[in-house]
Amino acid sequence: MTDLSLIKAGLLALLRDLDHRDAGRAIDDLVACLACGAAELDSAAQALIRLGYGIDRRDGRWRLTSAPDIPWPWEFLGRQGRMHYFPETTSTMDEARRLAEAGCPHLTVAVAGIQTRGRGRMDRVWSSDEGGLYFTVVLRPRDVPAVQAVKFNFMASLALVETLGQECGIDARVKWPNDLMAGERKLSGMLSEMETDGDVIDYVNIGIGLNVNNNPAVVEPRAVSLRSLTGRAFSRPEILGRFLDRFEAALLAHPDFTAVMAAWKTHAGSLNREVEVVTLKERLRGFAEDVDGQGALVLRLADGSRRTICCGDCFYG
Ligand code: BTN
Repeated sequence: MTDLSLIKAGLLALLRDLDHRDAGRAIDDLVACLACGAAELDSAAQALIRLGYGIDRRDGRWRLTSAPDIPWPWEFLGRQGRMHYFPETTSTMDEARRLAEAGCPHLTVAVAGIQTRGRGRMDRVWSSDEGGLYFTVVLRPRDVPAVQAVKFNFMASLALVETLGQECGIDARVKWPNDLMAGERKLSGMLSEMETDGDVIDYVNIGIGLNVNNNPAVVEPRAVSLRSLTGRAFSRPEILGRFLDRFEAALLAHPDFTAVMAAWKTHAGSLNREVEVVTLKERLRGFAEDVDGQGALVLRLADGSRRTICCGDCFYG
C-alpha cells in the first residue's frame, strides 16, 4: 500500500477504535493492519501531526489524543479518494461542477472550510464563515430521467434530518422544499444543480449548508447553528461521514418517489399549517396541504382555490 491518504485514513480509524483507557496500539499491530511499511506509517503520522492531530507515540504504542474539526479526505475511510477539501473557495457548487465536468465518479464530494461566494436558492447569498459545514455531493445516477431528479433532493434532506436526529439528538423538521429547521429557525439549506445528457441525468450536484459550530445569527437572525442550539460543539467530519453513509445506503435501495415522500413527510414541519410562499414572481399566503408527486407544494388559498408551487420558498408566521 503506498497511498498516503489511505494510510492516514486507516491509521485514524484504528486509533479511534480504542477505548480511552487503552494504552494505545502497538506499532507492529498498526503496520500489520494497514499492510504498509514502518516508514510509510511514520510519514502518515508526521503529516497528521503537522496538520494539528495529537498522536501520542510513547513506548511504541500510539494513541490519538485530539483531532482538528476539519473534513480532510482521510477522515472518511473508504471515501478518501472521492473527498475534496478546500480550506477556502468561492462555492463548493463551483468546485463540484469542475469535478463533475472532469468526469469524477458518483458520490464525489467537494467540501469547504469557508466559501467566499456561498450561494442559496432564489439568488440569495449563503453566509459561509468558519465553523459551518459547506459541501456539494456529485451524483451520477444511471439512466434516470431528468424529470425525476427532484427525488434526490428530498432523499438528501431526509438523510440529513435523520442523521441529525439519530447521531446528534437534534429534532429538526424539514421545511419545503429542502430546508431543515429547529423550531422557527433555519439550521440548513440545500441548493441543487443538474446537467442532462438528452433526457437523462448526467449529474446532479446537491449542495448543503449546515450551521454547525458557526454563529449565523450575526448576519441572519432567523438562522441557528447546532452549537447555539445545544451549547456544545459538534464534529463536522463525523456529521458529514454519517450523512454520506446514510445517503448512500438510501440511494442503493432505489426507493420510488412515493416511498421517499412518505418518509420525508414524517419529518415535515411545513405541512398542515399557514405559510407564506415566495417565488421569483409572486408572494402568496395559504394553507400548505401537501407535497405532490412532482415534489411541488400544494397550497390552499383563502378563496378555497389550490395552487401547486414547483419552485419557491416557504416561510412561517
Ligand atoms: C438555501 O437555503 O437557499 C440553500 C443554501 C445552500 C448552501 C450550500 S453551502 C454548500 C453549497 N455551496 C453553495 O454555494 N451553496 C450550497
